[in-house]
Amino acid sequence: MKKLLMISIIGLIALVAAACSGGSTGESDGEKPIKDDKPIIIKFSHVTSIDSVKGQAANRFAELVEEKTGGKAKVEVYPSSQLYGDNDELDALVSGNVQMIAPSVTKMVKLDPRWQYVDMPFLFENQEHAQKFFVSDVAKTLLNSDKLASNDIMGLVFWENGFKHFTNNKHPLQKPEDFKGLKFRAQAGKVLESQFQSLGAGSATISFGETYAALQQGTVDGQENTYNNIDTQKYQEVQKYMTLSEHGRLDYGVFVNKPFWEKMPDDIRGQVEEALKEATELEWKLADEENAKSLENIKNSGKVEVLDLTDEERAAIAEALQPVYDEFGDTITPELIEGIRSLK
Ligand code: LMR
Repeated sequence: MKKLLMISIIGLIALVAAACSGGSTGESDGEKPIKDDKPIIIKFSHVTSIDSVKGQAANRFAELVEEKTGGKAKVEVYPSSQLYGDNDELDALVSGNVQMIAPSVTKMVKLDPRWQYVDMPFLFENQEHAQKFFVSDVAKTLLNSDKLASNDIMGLVFWENGFKHFTNNKHPLQKPEDFKGLKFRAQAGKVLESQFQSLGAGSATISFGETYAALQQGTVDGQENTYNNIDTQKYQEVQKYMTLSEHGRLDYGVFVNKPFWEKMPDDIRGQVEEALKEATELEWKLADEENAKSLENIKNSGKVEVLDLTDEERAAIAEALQPVYDEFGDTITPELIEGIRSLK
């Protein structure tokens, strides 16, 4: 009986050992079943809420990566400046503390001032014009620039948000003179500073995460943003007037840490690229839909007086903003400005 028990125990141990070593097939380490491998983690940090255009697209991207790589890569999305805010998310990407970010492109000014193309007044005619630009050769010169590469990052694709509109707390903004003496929150960079100066207004760079409080406390009188950012940040609670100005755009670049990206196994990187392509198609669609919904939400809030501009009023604001081109045309470069104009 004892002997029988001993034989059974030895048999069991042998079975367990065979199972742990991958069986008796003599597999090498390289053939280890993938379930023993840890997934590749892509930390994706961004500053908007989960219900924003960018937030929804980032979450869908994470699902698609999981599906397409069969769990071999996982995207961990950190929204709402949870991990890093405007001031440090780019540094975190450069140092590899996160692997992916999708900032509003003007925030790339720290590395390459040409990204402020997006703030050049009335440069884009409509959404289609912006989308043509996103896939153009001129756009590729920004995504793949040496300035980014020498900082260990690269741009993969553009994500869209939309046109910016002015809001403020003091009075309706209809003519250039109406901006005089007001102070606005700006995202980053000298182009936006010059934009407000040209209208006789002041500006302060305030991170996205701190803008609601700055508007509420009166640190600034107003700000400029897309309908969807205004709505998902609930600026309608702390702003009285919105002008449908479409004077500049707010769009995103999806950037990765380059050494991380290049070290990823080819097959997995290919699947992540496919996931990003699909997420990007969805993001562009969402940008249109969600901005339209957000405009309705802002109007329906009953808290904001919404003012549209006539063509003449828009032209007068455009003329007042001409000094921005005089001052920054060379920095942004004539190639980029003309390249964008030619895509109309
Ligand atoms: C802002 O700072 O207003 C935007 O860049 C936020 C965003 O990421 O859309």
